[in-house]
Amino acid sequence: MRHQLRVNGREFHFEADASLLLIDAIREHCQLTGANQGCDTAQCGTCTVLIDGAAVKACNLLAAQVAADASVTTIEGLAIGDVLHPMQVCFSTHHALQCGFCTPGMILRAVAMEAEGVAADDRAVRHALAGNLCRCTGYEGIVAAVVDGLQQMRAR
Ligand code: FES
Ligand code: FES
Repeated sequence: MRHQLRVNGREFHFEADASLLLIDAIREHCQLTGANQGCDTAQCGTCTVLIDGAAVKACNLLAAQVAADASVTTIEGLAIGDVLHPMQVCFSTHHALQCGFCTPGMILRAVAMEAEGVAADDRAVRHALAGNLCRCTGYEGIVAAVVDGLQQMRAR
């Protein structure tokens, strides 16, 4: 079937099976490899992208289920030019990554928390991050980064 996706403000058109997962569409047809493929069973969150601002696990959705006029954002689309998003800066400042495999999904999940009204405190952030797993960091830096990032996003 003919697929149409808008990712990071660009229009993509391609032919692929109707069963194509959104994560495969983004990585293989849009050539955007920031969203990683981990479990493929909606457990780890490393494939998280934003659809119209909401965090979605791209391994758990068909590309054909995404409306043509929906706006998909991957980690490649978060910065504006050379200016990083505040949440990206906070992940760097708080040393919130080691191997980096989970990081794109963590950051996009964290960005979506702002609109969800997640409180910028340790307990609320840990609860909201329950669907995103990290095998390296022990989460302390990640939670500190998200708390700081939410505060900075709300101060803008
Ligand atoms: S690859 Fe999608 S949740 Fe793990
Ligand atoms: S930094 Fe390695 S999985 Fe999170």
